[in-house]
Amino acid sequence: MTGSGLRATRHDSALKHATGQALYIDDMAEPPGTLHGALVLSPAASGRLRKLDLSAAATSAGVVAVLAAGDIPGRNDVAAVGQGEPLFATDRVEFAGQTLAMVVATSLDAARHAADRAVIDIEEDEAILDIETALAKKAYVQAPSTLLRGEPEQALVSAPHKLSAEFQVGGQEHFYLEGQVAFALPGEDGDMVVHSSTQHPTEVQHICARLLGCDFNRITAVVRRLGGGFGGKESNASWVAAAAALAAHKTGRPVKLRLPREIDMIATGKRHPFLYRYAVGFDEAGRVLALDAILAADAGWSLDLTPGVVARALTHTDNAYWIPHFRAVGYACKTNKQSNTAFRGFGGPQGVVIMEDALDRIARYLGRDANEIRALNFYDAGRAETPYGQMLDENHLARCWAEVKQGGDYERRRAEVDAFNRTSPILKRGLGLFPLKFGISFNLPHMNQAGALVHVYTDGSIRLNHGGTEMGQGLFVKVAQVVAEVFGVDLDRIRPSATSTAEVPNTSPTAASTGSDLNGWAAWEAANTIKKRMIAFAAEHFFASMGDIEFADGNVRISKPGSNQVVSFGELARLCWLDRVSLSATGFYKTPKIHWDAATMRGRPFFYFSFGAAMAEVAVDTLTGESRVLRADLVQDCGTSLNPAIDRGQIEGAFVQGQGWLTCEELWWDKQGKLRTSGPSTYKIPGSRDVPAVFNVTMLANAPSREATIFRSKAVGEPPLLLATAVWTALKDAIAATGDGRTAVRLDAPATPERILAALATLKA
Ligand code: MTE
Ligand code: MOS
Repeated sequence: MTGSGLRATRHDSALKHATGQALYIDDMAEPPGTLHGALVLSPAASGRLRKLDLSAAATSAGVVAVLAAGDIPGRNDVAAVGQGEPLFATDRVEFAGQTLAMVVATSLDAARHAADRAVIDIEEDEAILDIETALAKKAYVQAPSTLLRGEPEQALVSAPHKLSAEFQVGGQEHFYLEGQVAFALPGEDGDMVVHSSTQHPTEVQHICARLLGCDFNRITAVVRRLGGGFGGKESNASWVAAAAALAAHKTGRPVKLRLPREIDMIATGKRHPFLYRYAVGFDEAGRVLALDAILAADAGWSLDLTPGVVARALTHTDNAYWIPHFRAVGYACKTNKQSNTAFRGFGGPQGVVIMEDALDRIARYLGRDANEIRALNFYDAGRAETPYGQMLDENHLARCWAEVKQGGDYERRRAEVDAFNRTSPILKRGLGLFPLKFGISFNLPHMNQAGALVHVYTDGSIRLNHGGTEMGQGLFVKVAQVVAEVFGVDLDRIRPSATSTAEVPNTSPTAASTGSDLNGWAAWEAANTIKKRMIAFAAEHFFASMGDIEFADGNVRISKPGSNQVVSFGELARLCWLDRVSLSATGFYKTPKIHWDAATMRGRPFFYFSFGAAMAEVAVDTLTGESRVLRADLVQDCGTSLNPAIDRGQIEGAFVQGQGWLTCEELWWDKQGKLRTSGPSTYKIPGSRDVPAVFNVTMLANAPSREATIFRSKAVGEPPLLLATAVWTALKDAIAATGDGRTAVRLDAPATPERILAALATLKA
């Protein structure tokens, strides 16, 4: 490493973000004739669509077209992995908010006004609105799946102690700042350029083509940046784009579809809520002998990405702990709600909470410190195999744990919190610790691939394209840093360009935190191909040997006995061009070592694990149920960070987003199945005052990835969200302090004031 590329450097768009100069899709200049779309949504959660009368909408002022299922030339299906997820419902309606039709008009107001004039007649039937009902009716979107090791039933019977419990966690709205939006521009011969705020341009391309009944090569999906995705624009962006493309196809005019916040929240999927029931067996020392658990996810009305979410939940139920006899059964419950989807962590956060709940219960039962019990059960050298058969080749658990306890001054603060609680009858404090192990790679091995396209121009400036999308996470700057490092040039010589299916084809979504791992290597390959050509040319041109040519500080140094020669990178590029050397290359990367058998749930699904630990201190007002996070100490493994400034932002942001999921973000549907928390006034994401007043974030030092990741870095997008589990544990600790401290209490998430008061009341009774 020459050091010119890899260091803490700010996001390439940081100033543009802050000043409002960054261009999002809704900021793009609209060509003359541009039309605007508005959706007609089902008001009922379940029933038969008897009539959809769009005549009043069609004759409304400014309306150019109304579109329903019959107007789709190709297949009316926008499913990401399964099938049978229509863009426009035809016969059955499956949730309140499902799209039935679309109006396109000369202005946004005209379109929205007209959409309200649709006449909808639905013969309603009984909707399934909660997980328990779906379980009782065996209503699933896919068959249950089981991850099994050993003989959990026998082990539970023979275990000296056994506890069982049940609890739930809620869903979460992504609340990206930029809502779902797409802008489709028709060209000649059925060509269509679709600007989409998507994490998955290739899926946008495929689904637009599926709907229009054309070849993939007619559709170009483009995305420069997203105003946040968080998983919510992995599959959901595709149908929004497809609707815009359909309207552009029908009218022959550019069409923009931008969902207002309320429609966005009502029509798109969220994080999966989960219901858990488990039994855990353990010995006198607190060593876990067996876990038998069910994890029932609320999938909503359709499959969407639920298979992957359930698989990740099951493969994260073990979290940091070695459990000899293990069974986790995942149910994907079908309810008449929004189809739940990817959300930062992708089922991982919903997997790890079981053991955290269990270990607290075990500790209280045995009268021991829960954090000793946690450490006792960590994976270690002799106990390094996960229930799905992957070995922990690398294990930073003990280190992260020790560092978080030391940095957070655990022993002293435990004593302080206990002392505080003895003298404070109304306000109670709690401490919670959490160890993290998170698997990196898509569970589906074929998705772990990426491509890049690099051009070097004759002035030495470089254009960079790859299949990853920029959603604020800093992927573009990280990949640009990799290319700068290869060529030994300043970062500002690299121009990242919009992700486009026309430049790098057949891409995977930017998801599962793999963006920089995959695209970083692909870009490295492309840049290195060009560099090798430049070196070969320079050796010949300067009568030097290839080994004596070095790229650094924007220059190329040619060392020869007696005389060293230096040319600028740009000058060498120009000389290469004069000699007809190609200065453009593609690069490709596929993650090695991974394999997965979805049927038996065994293999090596993850290239590596990311580790971490968190400690949180909370205060609870036992009269009002309100709570606050007073302090958080986080240790996160980033391998050798590609960019510590970006990674710090990811860790802080992810933690607070996780905090929101577990404390204040509550989705609420009425008895008719209508989502009533459909805007910022009723749905509360954490604000600046919810950020812990003391917030110490450290990255594990001197911990290069053991595997050959790009510059030995590690993925960071999702893992730190799970660290917020420490907050939930701390809240339970504070609640338990109102009792004898030996009684564990059920606390469902989000731990709103109401739920905290209910937990306090249960404890009292
Ligand atoms: N950070 C910002 N600012 N905005 C986002 O939408 N998405 C998260 C995470 N960090 C997100 C984010 C999610 S869900 C994932 S999977 C990763 O970023 C994806 O990007 P990466 O693979 O490049 O880390
Ligand atoms: Mo992230 S949930 O994998 O988009």
